Amino acid sequence: MSMKQRTYLVFMGPPGSGKGTQARILQDSLGIPQVSTGDIFRSNIKDKTELGMMAKGYMDEGELVPDDVTIQMVKRRLAEGDCDRGVIFDGFPRNLVQVVALDGMLAPHGGVSLAPILDVRDDEVMRRITGRRVCRLCGEVYHIRHNPPQVEGVCDRDGGELYLRDDDHPNTVVNRLFVYYKQTSPLVGYYFAKGLLANVNGSQSPDEVTEDMLNVLAEHGIVIRVSPLVYPAR
Ligand code: AP5
Ligand code: MG
Repeated sequence: MSMKQRTYLVFMGPPGSGKGTQARILQDSLGIPQVSTGDIFRSNIKDKTELGMMAKGYMDEGELVPDDVTIQMVKRRLAEGDCDRGVIFDGFPRNLVQVVALDGMLAPHGGVSLAPILDVRDDEVMRRITGRRVCRLCGEVYHIRHNPPQVEGVCDRDGGELYLRDDDHPNTVVNRLFVYYKQTSPLVGYYFAKGLLANVNGSQSPDEVTEDMLNVLAEHGIVIRVSPLVYPAR
């Protein structure tokens, strides 16, 4: 087993900034999986697990799910075989307790490699979130105007039904933004101080954001599978 350093990316940015969209595109070109705590909670809610039922109350209010549960869930996910070259974290860590826990988990593997932050204004975030539709089966993310499916309400990949997330109603989005600025945005300073923060203009088209993201990763020597850079077709 090689001791080669693993690649751990932490995607930062407010709700609706495009973390999930970019993580889903880049996981294929980078060869490391997206680990979205929000997606894992939603799949538990769909399966009506105990974890899902517990998380739902917090999510519907736009509040964070308690740290101990979230951190244990991430630990379990990281122990799965597909994470053995690294992962793209999407929606984790979200506060200072989680960032410290993550540093502990990754310490044996070289720590966080880079924390790209998607910069998007709040009014644009609101437009993106209220127009978002998600596939019930595979979690693919669409937008009714910016990234519509070929057939309205139907996933291009597997024909699954597209739905509006329970926490995507405007009142909940306002609280999610509040929680982001209060609890999560201090992590921007944390990663900046460690020299790991990389700014990406998230207000461009999804393809342009992907291109900028790949350039930022390449500047930091992070190119895993793709050589030379080939942008994923969209
Ligand atoms: P989570 O699922 O992580 O939600 P979030 O952080 O609020 O982020 P979003 O998924 O809303 O946005 P995104 O940045 O992924 O944007 P997307 O790519 O979809 O968390 C949900 C809840 O779970 C939390 O509130 C909390 O309760 C709980 N939770 C999760 N993690 C937790 C943790 N670590 N600790 C505790 N609790 C936790 O894009 C948005 C829309 O814009 C889409 O429609 C997309 O098509 C469109 N779009 C994307 N990019 C572009 C572009 N460049 N131009 C135009 N439109 C675009
Ligand atoms: Mg997301």
